[in-house]
Amino acid sequence: MSKNYDVVVIGAGPAGYVAAIRAAQNGMSVACIDEWQNRDGKYAFGGTCLNAGCIPSKALLESSELYHRAGHEFKKHGIKTSGVELDLAAMQKRRAGIVRQLTNGIAGLLKANKVDGLVGHGKLLAGKKVEFTPVDGKPEIIDAANVILATGSIPIELPFAKFDDEYIVDSWGALELDEVPKRLGVIGAGVIGLELGSVWSRLGSEVTIIEAMHDFLFMADREVAAVAGRDFKKQGLDIKLGAKLTAATVDKDVVKLEFEDAGVPKSIEVDKLVVAVGRRPYTGELLAEDSGIQVDERGFIEVDDECRTRVKGVYAVGDCVRGPMLAHKGSEEGVMAADLIAGEIAEFNYDVIPSVIYTAPEIAWVGKTEQEVKASGRAYKTGSFPFAASGRAKAMEQTGGMVKMISAKDDDELLGVHIIGPMAGELIGEVVLAMEFQASTEDIQRTIHAHPSLAEAIHEASLAVDKRALNFPNK
Ligand code: FAD
Ligand code: NAI
Repeated sequence: MSKNYDVVVIGAGPAGYVAAIRAAQNGMSVACIDEWQNRDGKYAFGGTCLNAGCIPSKALLESSELYHRAGHEFKKHGIKTSGVELDLAAMQKRRAGIVRQLTNGIAGLLKANKVDGLVGHGKLLAGKKVEFTPVDGKPEIIDAANVILATGSIPIELPFAKFDDEYIVDSWGALELDEVPKRLGVIGAGVIGLELGSVWSRLGSEVTIIEAMHDFLFMADREVAAVAGRDFKKQGLDIKLGAKLTAATVDKDVVKLEFEDAGVPKSIEVDKLVVAVGRRPYTGELLAEDSGIQVDERGFIEVDDECRTRVKGVYAVGDCVRGPMLAHKGSEEGVMAADLIAGEIAEFNYDVIPSVIYTAPEIAWVGKTEQEVKASGRAYKTGSFPFAASGRAKAMEQTGGMVKMISAKDDDELLGVHIIGPMAGELIGEVVLAMEFQASTEDIQRTIHAHPSLAEAIHEASLAVDKRALNFPNK
């Protein structure tokens, strides 16, 4: 006898498990299928984000930053330290423990919401039938009134630097190193390259990052990227821009990297290489030939603005569809799909998705960069406030960076906010909410911000847009 569900979700990453929970909250019978297996052999819900992405990387970023500050910055606070030592095994144990707690938590949440969490492989057949193959059993067919595909993404592999899981690793491998490599090479100065490069640099590696683009952090506002570039250089990250890797060969425990730097052939040797040149959608063994689902030339499942595929009742959300590969983007798409299935009105504002890079200082933004606004032809005004003038940032001894706000000249609309500095990833939330509620710049100017707080820098930047900053000379 075949099983029936109102909704079957394939994939239990942040897009899939959230979709499943919301669908259940909407009164549907729901199954959520996932096949993620960790290196200890255990299966776990939570997808890339919880097992090998957002969460373990932030655990190591936090630990490595504390280690670095204990060794280098505590003395500024008048705290003498001696014998600060790294216990990498304990650091990694903490990281693994956090992952375990949170992924077990997802299993608990699915259960609490009466979602059947099914461990194994899901495949979409014609007619909204799902073939489910349990990890230790035979395939069975599930009838689904609706299906949500949320199968995520996997790292891109370079043909001339193939992953061997020992010397040449992807981001997952880079999170689980059990020794600090003396010399670490990273291909790609994107989000992963910078976050994981920072982790290992703080723990003692000499880090060289090879980046093909000439513009550093091309997706960020130019002013912010310039500040970040200077900071990372000071921290010891050797970032080679406009450099093209041509070969990576492993010989006697050493990885030799050959690359072209401004057209000149060069080579360096490293002990480990992390390849972080982007991720691609994952739809391996997901779609039967007659499933009716279209995949574009880059492998993304084709969907409309409401995440509907071409097959009625089949949705796709998260990294396997167009848009930024971010956990919060996937989760909100999952909520939208589940609500649409329940017949509710739901939409997603693709213009207001925050981006955060969890380096030190953190970098966060929402909306357009100044170069994008300029290219749009809309008249605009900008205002900035440096953390060097913030009392709270001074107290924290973290005064690098600034808040930059870009607003429309005609109607004062907030067009983009770019933050580099302490807790930028937390601060951006205020602006995301403001933009979502279509607040004007003046609305932020007239909002009371606690003193002393880092959020005052957002307030002051909004005032600076109209040359009315109170705690910094207006330009
Ligand atoms: P995934 O999380 O990839 O989950 C997909 C799940 O589907 C997986 O468990 C997979 O096993 C399962 N699956 C696939 N196919 C099948 C099948 N046929 N049957 C059964 N199961 C299947 N994003 C942020 O927003 N903030 C961050 O700080 C951040 N840090 C990151 C750090 C790193 C190192 C990496 C690699 C990524 C990071 N990301 C971050 C990106 C984030 O992890 C992804 O955007 C997010 O996980 C996408 O969610 P998803 O649910 O679409 O896919
Ligand atoms: P990315 O797209 O952020 O960066 C990849 C970088 O590699 C780019 O700068 C690109 O120019 C460069 N590159 C590509 N091919 C190259 C080559 N052959 N040689 C040298 N450089 C090359 O991708 P990344 O860092 O792998 O991250 C993947 C995804 O994961 C991102 O899309 C991001 O959204 C997500 N992520 C998000 C995080 C966050 O929100 N804090 C943290 C980590 C990942």
